[in-house]
Amino acid sequence: MVPWFCDVGSDMGKGKKHGGKGAEKDVVCGCKHVTRADVEAAVAAGATGLADVKRMTGAGTKWGKCKGRVRACLEQALEARVAAGAAALEPEAENPLVIHGIYRHFKGDFYLVENVAHDSETDEEVVVYRKLYGDGSLWVRPKAMFLSPVDHEKYPEVTQRWRFELQHVESVARRV
Ligand code: FES
Repeated sequence: MVPWFCDVGSDMGKGKKHGGKGAEKDVVCGCKHVTRADVEAAVAAGATGLADVKRMTGAGTKWGKCKGRVRACLEQALEARVAAGAAALEPEAENPLVIHGIYRHFKGDFYLVENVAHDSETDEEVVVYRKLYGDGSLWVRPKAMFLSPVDHEKYPEVTQRWRFELQHVESVARRV
């Protein structure tokens, strides 16, 4: 990956007035504690515009004063992605979406992918998946987010690479 640096701007030092966490290095949206790595991960997962980044990370969805900063980060991430080659950053190539596949969330729980659906308003693909614990309820999440990498700057202790990672579960029953 071509390294890129997002100039988070000198106004982040005032982040305590606007979001409370903005003084941290590399935070582009203090209100939602979104870092440049989050923006980069969103781009790697398919974000191409500010609306995508807002939806996938939450950046700019509170007061929105960070919009210019988030947009600048987005543009840098997109340029880096083009420079590095889109194929190298395509998450689905390494972590494919398998209907009826079992996935492990990076926080440890397991989920069964039931299907892929389309948002009736935006036509965006969403993954329909079932909790393999508790009440076994169904959930949906944008496909791009489902297949996105873990933000290792935000979760440095996590070793799993993908937010939801496909598992290869073997049967433990003996055939007779
Ligand atoms: S810093 Fe307030 S919404 Fe981003």
